[in-house]
Amino acid sequence: MDQIFNINTFVTITIIILTTIYLLFKCSTRNFKHWEERDVPYAKPLPFVGNFLKILTFRIQMGHYLAELYNQFDVPYFGIFIFNIPHLIVKCPNLLKLILVKDFQYFPDRTVVSDEKCDALGSKFLFFVPNPEWKHSRSKMAPAFSTGKLKSMMVLMDNVAEDLKAYVRKNLHKESLEAKELFAKFSTDIIASCAFGVDAYSFKSENAEFRSIGRLVFDKRPKRAIFQTFCFLWPSFIRMFRIPFFDPKFTNFMRKMFWETFNERRKANYKRNDLIDLVIQLQEKSKPGEPYEFVGDRVVAPAGQFFAAGFEAVSSIMAFTLYELSIQPDIQNKVRQEIKSVTSDHGKITYEALKDMKYLEMIVYESLRKYPTLPFIDRICIEDYKVPNSDFVIEKGTPVYIPVFGLHYDPKYFPEPEKYDPERFSDENKDSFPEYAFIPFGKGPRSCIGARFGFLTSKLGLAHILSEFEIVKTTKTPVPMEYETKGFLIGSKRGLPIGFKEL
Ligand code: HEM
Repeated sequence: MDQIFNINTFVTITIIILTTIYLLFKCSTRNFKHWEERDVPYAKPLPFVGNFLKILTFRIQMGHYLAELYNQFDVPYFGIFIFNIPHLIVKCPNLLKLILVKDFQYFPDRTVVSDEKCDALGSKFLFFVPNPEWKHSRSKMAPAFSTGKLKSMMVLMDNVAEDLKAYVRKNLHKESLEAKELFAKFSTDIIASCAFGVDAYSFKSENAEFRSIGRLVFDKRPKRAIFQTFCFLWPSFIRMFRIPFFDPKFTNFMRKMFWETFNERRKANYKRNDLIDLVIQLQEKSKPGEPYEFVGDRVVAPAGQFFAAGFEAVSSIMAFTLYELSIQPDIQNKVRQEIKSVTSDHGKITYEALKDMKYLEMIVYESLRKYPTLPFIDRICIEDYKVPNSDFVIEKGTPVYIPVFGLHYDPKYFPEPEKYDPERFSDENKDSFPEYAFIPFGKGPRSCIGARFGFLTSKLGLAHILSEFEIVKTTKTPVPMEYETKGFLIGSKRGLPIGFKEL
């Protein structure tokens, strides 16, 4: 009797399991004819994961994976599946111009979400805000990045540059310093000063609070790394399970730091011509009941996003630049000569002097090409869009991805793409590639709002370091580069340890 019962139970359970697997299989493959039916070439998907397996298992970083696919398709655009969701990947620079600029009204938002219900502050950052609120917020934030504001921030930046050099000098006895961490300290202190009006003391204490909190923003631990990637690629999952893009410790700290400074400034009626001053003005002008009333987390968001979007990108570009210069002494010597001669013409490293450092500018551009911090750009189509000169319609709701890394390494546009060659950006050569094949800051109305700030900070820090120290490769410097596979930003798996010598 018992044996019959056990056999029956076994058969029932087996049928349930097989039926569930079959239904999941059917469900996971139900869209797989999507691109074929529209005559769009596509990467062959696998049941359950689509084309997402390599990213899900951390075998490759998202930007590099898109570049791998980019090289397999010699067409203006092609399709992939993330789980069972069809995504369009656009390669052709002319079509990119339409999507990012000319026909922006069809693609004004990103796919990426930070869900309001679990991340009230993060969801107010420009990067995540959908339209029409985005248009409203962006126009309010633009004055924070005017030439006048950038020039006035130079004084604050100069102080941090002095701290940076003092820190390097104090640590010269070490064989190498971790360049990414060094410049994360630098960019954290600059942004804390320019956006929060406080000294973050990152160079004075290894456990400085701002820097410790910064480490949580783009956390490389597998769970956080995959959830942040899901925020781009599987927003419905993020909404369903209420997963915040940012660690709540980060958002709570941003609120605390911001309101402390904000209230002190208002009480003392003290002005510093920085971001907080602008936010105070915006709040004073805000009227109760107006759309997107400037209260609560909307007031904190400009400073929070400045920090989150800025410190990682700036430190990454600076660290990768020094890495390249440590293995290419000729380029290093050439740029140092320029820095020294321009600085002596101007008396010191000023805003105008940095503008005159043309070779340094070419170097930063080449670093942005070879190591684009955000190696892909995402948009969502909000209204059916017929691609000009074709019958293909990008349907409303289609996620569109732009493989920045693929474009930046396409030998058609950048011959010998692995070679670090600043001459690509000289006056004679800079028109040799299509404008939309080089997009480290994105393009169009939704491009990086902090691009000029990021560029200026990077040039300033590099000019200070290179004028006083020689950068050398050590036994720990990773050659060739091995990329981190977790997370959605470009990084080095083994860090960027580099040697410094006093000149
Ligand atoms: C070298 C440094 C930087 C790089 C490479 C970089 C790169 C990017 C990229 C690729 C985007 C997406 C653009 C698009 O979708 O078309 C972006 C957006 C953004 N970046 Fe940056 N960024 C840098 C520095 C900064 C800094 C310093 C800030 C500080 C304010 C900042 C704030 C933002 C914001 C707020 C957005 C979203 C803009 C919007 O949706 O309107 N970035 N950045």
